[in-house]
Amino acid sequence: MDLKRWLTEAALAVQDWQEGFGGYAPHESMQVSDERFGAAFAELASRLTDNYPFFHPAYAGQMLKPPHPAAVAGYLAAMLINPNNHALDGGPATAAMEKEVVSQLAAMFGFREHLGHLTTSGTIANLEALYVARESHPGLGIAYSAEAHYTHGRMCGVLGIEGTTIGTDEAGRMDVSELDDLLAGGRIGTVVATAGTTGLGAIDPVHEVLAVARRHGVRVHVDAAYGGFFTLLAGQGGPAALDPAPWQAIAGCDSVVVDPHKHGLQPYGCGAVLFADPAAGRFYLHDSPYTYFTSGELHLGEISLECSRAGAAAAALWLTFRLLPPSPDGLGQVLAAGRRAALDWAALLRSSADLDLYQQPELDIVCYFPAGQSRSAAAIDAASARVMQAGMSDPDEAVFLSTLRVSAGAFRRRRPDIAADSGEARILRSVLMKPEHEAFVPRLHARLEQLARRAG
Ligand SMILES: Cc1ncc(COP(=O)(O)O)c(C=O)c1O
Repeated sequence: MDLKRWLTEAALAVQDWQEGFGGYAPHESMQVSDERFGAAFAELASRLTDNYPFFHPAYAGQMLKPPHPAAVAGYLAAMLINPNNHALDGGPATAAMEKEVVSQLAAMFGFREHLGHLTTSGTIANLEALYVARESHPGLGIAYSAEAHYTHGRMCGVLGIEGTTIGTDEAGRMDVSELDDLLAGGRIGTVVATAGTTGLGAIDPVHEVLAVARRHGVRVHVDAAYGGFFTLLAGQGGPAALDPAPWQAIAGCDSVVVDPHKHGLQPYGCGAVLFADPAAGRFYLHDSPYTYFTSGELHLGEISLECSRAGAAAAALWLTFRLLPPSPDGLGQVLAAGRRAALDWAALLRSSADLDLYQQPELDIVCYFPAGQSRSAAAIDAASARVMQAGMSDPDEAVFLSTLRVSAGAFRRRRPDIAADSGEARILRSVLMKPEHEAFVPRLHARLEQLARRAG
């Protein structure tokens, strides 16, 4: 796709539409000469170089990458109109697109019915799910694993709900027998299962969580903000295939969150929350004397906590899904490449003398640490920091990583020979979310072995 061409086409298409409304003089208060714009823009372009190269496979750090060019063109075209998906009065076309993409997401998770909408982020999407949890089971708490995203504990505080943390097993997945004991106490109304934890990419056993929760009459929300699109690999063939059990179980849960701005190739500003029971809409009832006037149909603002939301985000996702639909042979192929990259790298790390694998990756996150050190938490922490620093500041062949802080206890569960001479240690963490990572893994590995040898 020639992005420059399609950005121009996007601007022209909107201009064509605008011209149909007749000419008018733009107000002088907003006039800017090309010369002044050029100078300011040059400054912006220069400031933007102070960034990490998220687009490049040598960036193997956090969950970050640029959007697909189709998303950029779709976003730009809609942004020039700037619809607000709060209400049909603010953006009928993009509100309709939002309903279509939300239906595609619901179908991806196997929801027979649904009520849902896009959100600004995974944080807001989860807040909405926890809000509905509180409203449907007033007075009861929410449980989530110790590896769940920090937002759950934080938002329980915001919502005035008691949040309870459940321990995890040796792979960072929710301990279901501990959950069972907790639910027997009768104080929990909703359990949050995470399908792809932020740190390790671990998949809570959603099917087991669901069975236990239902036995106790407890709701289940699935936080699949990061991992949700991996459901496209569930039960597929090839090395990237995932055990379908936890993913198929999502269809029987009460709500799910997925972030198209993570694995859905979208720019930031695109999360989604889906409820299996459309009656969840009753918790959103509110009056708005200044909106909801052009149509008696459902306005998205009537079923969301946010008011203004970018219609452009819906347009970008809609256009992307036209080209790479959320199906195993569409977007699934993009995720499969990242997953294969993680598996390939894990195999190299297992047989390396310089680096060691922290645990087998379940999705596309690989965690590892320099191996040539004294096997102590403090030494590994310092060596990991040195490797990351040296990699990022190398003028010739930079690599960009992130770190993960793990407790000495969690480390020793995986590697009992590690001395717990400090309470926690930083290890290295790479999210291989670009399909280009697959071809790049041998280079990345060789480069990191070199850095680890030097850091020793
Ligand atoms: C599992 C999970 N939940 C929630 C979030 C928060 O999402 P956002 O950063 O879009 O607010 C993240 C972000 O990484 C995540 O991985």
